[in-house]
Amino acid sequence: MTASSTPSRAAELLRDTRVAPSILAADHSRLSGQVEEIMAAGARVVHVDVMDGHFVPPISVGPPIVDGIREQVSDAGGILDVHLMIEHPERQVEEFAKAGADIISIHQEATPHVHFTLERIREAGCLAGLALNPSTPVAAAGELGEMVDLLLCMTVNPGWGGQSFIEASLSKVERLRAELPAGVPVEVDGGIAEETAPRCVEAGATVLVAGSAVMGSDDPAESYRSIAAAAGAT
Ligand code: DX5
Ligand code: ZN
Repeated sequence: MTASSTPSRAAELLRDTRVAPSILAADHSRLSGQVEEIMAAGARVVHVDVMDGHFVPPISVGPPIVDGIREQVSDAGGILDVHLMIEHPERQVEEFAKAGADIISIHQEATPHVHFTLERIREAGCLAGLALNPSTPVAAAGELGEMVDLLLCMTVNPGWGGQSFIEASLSKVERLRAELPAGVPVEVDGGIAEETAPRCVEAGATVLVAGSAVMGSDDPAESYRSIAAAAGAT
């Protein structure tokens, strides 16, 4: 078992533009093999979508899957970016941190205790991410400025892979970029592919989550490389 990544290692990786494949679209019967393919292609940020059947209708995965891939991802020099689409995220922070999350993002819309939960995430040794639904105003991020290590801007409605990118997200990313301190990366999530990734980068995003466009393709490694090249990502 390797030691879990430190926040500074995660912060270091996030200094460069990154494509973050989401395992939501992976074939879970051969998850380890699929993770191996994308790590070999150069991925260093692996996105894990956690859905509880309440905050969003589907149910996806929990701490055992995070724990199951942590060593493989960490050994390849990568980090786990855990996106909690769950109610009461404050109750789950410790479990996900223990399972090996490096970044934990919670939704502004999922709890009245956003500030409290971001503090708990940092105390648990992870980077604290704040996720905003498409209809949530940019101002929410401004209120929490120094508490946020990463701002996840949903570019589709949360809950499902394979949806179309919401075009209005581009102006939102620009406004978020202007609102946030320079060191806080903006992550875009939903509908990211070769065509949308560079436009998000132009708007100010530096972490680009790609589910179906990478893991759902016939050749995840090749798709990863194409999107990374299109976006000028590392
Ligand atoms: C959606 C999830 C996304 C999802 C993206 O609720 O947060 O991370 O995996 O899937 P694609 O890239 O297919 O839109
Ligand atoms: Zn996500």
